[in-house]
Amino acid sequence: MTEKTLEQHTTDLNEDVAAIINAVANLTDEIFNELPHRRGMAGTKNVFGEEQKALDVWTNDVLVEELMKTGVVRTIVSEELGEPLHNPEETGDYVVTLDPLDGSSNIESNNLFGTIVGVHKEKETLTKGKNQVCAFYNLYGPITTLVCATKDGVNEFVKHRKGSTDYFLSRKNMKLKEPGSLMSIGGLPKDWTPAYREFVQEMMDAGKKIRYGGAFVGDFNQILYYGGFFSYPSLVDKPNGKLRLVIEANPMSFIIEAAGGACSNEKGSVLEILPDDPNQRTPIHVGNKDLIKRLEEIHGKY
Ligand code: F6P
Ligand code: MN
Repeated sequence: MTEKTLEQHTTDLNEDVAAIINAVANLTDEIFNELPHRRGMAGTKNVFGEEQKALDVWTNDVLVEELMKTGVVRTIVSEELGEPLHNPEETGDYVVTLDPLDGSSNIESNNLFGTIVGVHKEKETLTKGKNQVCAFYNLYGPITTLVCATKDGVNEFVKHRKGSTDYFLSRKNMKLKEPGSLMSIGGLPKDWTPAYREFVQEMMDAGKKIRYGGAFVGDFNQILYYGGFFSYPSLVDKPNGKLRLVIEANPMSFIIEAAGGACSNEKGSVLEILPDDPNQRTPIHVGNKDLIKRLEEIHGKY
């Protein structure tokens, strides 16, 4: 049987959404080839006050240019831009959110990192995550993959290399394994809230295994395979945690729901939050439905 390529798969989607996915996918080789050459700092800070890596800035620029060329993107909200970037002609029906290189602190240590994209067909720049029509991420791992979700499901495509530039469908209609076995938790344990401590203790007692790599894409990706949960919780001195609602939490929450899982900000679904700032942070928990339900039950007691 001939394997289906990403490009063939996207012909079943709306052609504008297909153009957005392919614009990012077609840059994979260029980005991948650049990785070993730009591991240093850019000498600038992003709007979050974080030191930008040379790769963060470069990857943002190539992705923004290619996405704007599709002609279907009206606005890009990117971690590296500070403010939303509007297409000067004000054409295009889509708002694309971009974390060009998620987990970029892993660049120097050569651990996983990737690109996270959310796609909204909305007039407003900021809308609820549940309004996304598609979300996907690229994982520049030992094996490069693109995991793409629409409301109809989640599929993984693998970049074959060996001379081929295509992505091939490698896992179809992915669903979280039951029961989930992993927990992947960010934030210093000393800063966890009492409610979160109780939840983690219960999960440890239930035999969940800890695996944390320090990049949302990589840590999320393993949950998609083994089940369990990823958390970057609210912290005692940072009630909104660390991760960004619009560019990180929303796309991944959309993907987890399409894989049969759930997401939470400790009170309710992340996808129901109406953002008032493109850069706002949120506590984020994604994983198997029963685990996320239990997390909310425990937080409700405090
Ligand atoms: O983009 C922010 C990020 O790098 C995520 O990819 C990752 O989940 C998190 O921060 C890691 O944070 P920490 O270094 O606190 O574990
Ligand atoms: Mn990130």
